[in-house]
Amino acid sequence: MKILAIESSCDETAAAVVEDGRKVLSSVVASQVEEHRLYGGVVPEIASRRHAEAIVPVVSEALEQAELTLEGIDALAVTYAPGLIGALLVGVNFAKGLSLSTGLPLVPVHHLRSHIASNYISNNKLKPPFLCLVVSGGHSHIVMVEDYTKMKIIGRTRDDAAGEAFDKAARTMGMPYPGGIELDKVAESGDPHAFKLPHPTVHDAPYDFSFSGLKTAVINLLHNSAQKGVELNKADVCASFRYAVVDCLCTNFLKAANDLNVDTLVIAGGVSANSLLRRTLSQECEKRGFKFYMPGKSLCGDNAAMVGAQGYYEYIAGKTAGTDLNAYATMSIEE
Ligand code: KG4
Ligand code: ZN
Repeated sequence: MKILAIESSCDETAAAVVEDGRKVLSSVVASQVEEHRLYGGVVPEIASRRHAEAIVPVVSEALEQAELTLEGIDALAVTYAPGLIGALLVGVNFAKGLSLSTGLPLVPVHHLRSHIASNYISNNKLKPPFLCLVVSGGHSHIVMVEDYTKMKIIGRTRDDAAGEAFDKAARTMGMPYPGGIELDKVAESGDPHAFKLPHPTVHDAPYDFSFSGLKTAVINLLHNSAQKGVELNKADVCASFRYAVVDCLCTNFLKAANDLNVDTLVIAGGVSANSLLRRTLSQECEKRGFKFYMPGKSLCGDNAAMVGAQGYYEYIAGKTAGTDLNAYATMSIEE
């Protein structure tokens, strides 16, 4: 079954053709990041307008690269929540129009579920049940994936998402948006123990995260030293901050796996590209005898191939939408 998938939840307009949830026939991503960088973050109205301009060429390119026309497509999948509402609406409305004109079934896909599904593309043998750490710019969750379309949130962030914390710390150090990627690179040559930063926990909620205190701690460290005219080693600050975030993520994730007796661990979302997170979990899972899966680096960020992968499993489970489909800025992954 070939699915044409569309993603427009944030600042990437993307389309892909995916066969049977696992095989990517094409994947096109048009990023707007250069333009948003000028403002230090995503400007929602600009994002919507760029999606409106890019969606037709991006979808056409995805069909072309797959060497298909709409006649060779069996269903459409589109991200409908969560995300920037104006951005989501561009993809949703385009997909509805396409469904109406072709008669193809339309499958609505939850953005975080699709991040998880990026792993089905990168790891052909992976099947639920497994425990997944979903870490992106807007969310940080530990999710029990009981089946392809049945999920339960085990832990969540109480304030900032991991990606958001990375981006804000990076911005304070003058790195361009989204700074998480560069912070990760700079951290590679630093000492993770150079600065003592808090590794916050949430009282009575061992699987929940809290990153805002840690973010404030690193911002204060940078501001205080600037005021005193002391120059800090940037690589050491990056390494210490990255270590603190990754340690919080891994500690809670591994504890949840132990407590729930799960032996298959998976990561997903933009922050799953983080080098230290990937290394640490690979090593810790090997020590504990857990199976560990991660998406290929090119599938960690927003793309439509992952929407086609999850769309397939949602379709099999009977989830299709009519022409009254709407977009939603927030929605639980459990819905
Ligand atoms: O999943 P994603 O592409 O978009 C959302 O759904 O939010 O995640 C983007 C986030 C950004 O905050 C970005 O800085 C972060 O993922 N990110 C990273 C790395 N690569 C991307 N954070 C830390 N280390 C990385 N290597
Ligand atoms: Zn995302």
